[in-house]
Amino acid sequence: MPTFGFIGVGELARYTIDGLRHGNHAGPIVLSPRNRDHAVWLSANRDCRIAADNQEVVDDSDIVILATRPAQCLEALSGLRFRPGQVLVSVVAGVTIARLRQASTGDVEIVRAMPVSSAAVGASPTLIYPRHDAVAALFECCGKAIAVDAEQHFDQGTILACVYSWYFALFETLIESTGGPALPRATAAELVLGMARGAAELALARSDQTPGEIAAQIATDGTFSRLGLDRLERERAFDAWREACELLRERLEGG
Ligand SMILES: NC(=O)c1ccc[n+]([C@@H]2O[C@H](COP(=O)([O-])OP(=O)(O)OC[C@H]3O[C@@H](n4cnc5c(N)ncnc54)[C@H](OP(=O)(O)O)[C@@H]3O)[C@@H](O)[C@H]2O)c1
Repeated sequence: MPTFGFIGVGELARYTIDGLRHGNHAGPIVLSPRNRDHAVWLSANRDCRIAADNQEVVDDSDIVILATRPAQCLEALSGLRFRPGQVLVSVVAGVTIARLRQASTGDVEIVRAMPVSSAAVGASPTLIYPRHDAVAALFECCGKAIAVDAEQHFDQGTILACVYSWYFALFETLIESTGGPALPRATAAELVLGMARGAAELALARSDQTPGEIAAQIATDGTFSRLGLDRLERERAFDAWREACELLRERLEGG
């Protein structure tokens, strides 16, 4: 069982480690010492060990996960000595493999990954680049690993890690719009979240149909579903989502 080491013990490290333990990864996990409160909590509650420094994390791990903020990642990497055969997984948004390689010493393999917070409950669709069996196995513990063969696919795919957060805002709007006084908020929430999960499960299962085709099949003329969908389209509700995705794409391409 591989030993995983985390350099940068913030939100991402915490939910990924939750996911690993939730997914029954019983192997050793080593943490960098900075952000002591998080590290101490993980050590006490998720069976992790706190290293003396970042180099000890590297020395004691088979797979090192670099999880600092983008502005700190190159500095965190510089000076670390990797062994041949070790793997560095960067979850840092917007920093290419070429830049990570420049900042690192040795011939460590570098893989990028983008787990989201649903990893904590074993439900993160995690983009990885390039394909790597051991890294895919790590993220299969936290949901599903989705490998791509080009870094520009990875960069464009990271937009979806942001869209993921927009879903929560959409869910909240729908719960507020459909809950009370006749429907208790808790029931509205259960229905909103259950419908979202149901729609996603159906769309994933129906590989012969696009989600747009499923919508058109349900929201036929004269139905309440069509009435609402027409209103959303007239108000350009979906165009706003397209424009938000385009904004992120432009920012990512801008570096
Ligand atoms: N959070 C998300 O939902 C999410 C989703 C996808 C990708 N990501 C990516 O994941 C990375 C981490 O995000 P996060 O939300 O976990 O950030 P975070 O909560 O700010 O955690 C980053 C941690 O790294 C520590 N750190 C900084 N420099 C370090 C160094 N040289 N050695 C060891 N630790 C160091 C920071 O310590 P201090 O507090 O002392 O500065 C901080 O505790 C980011 O690059 C982000 O792009 C995050």
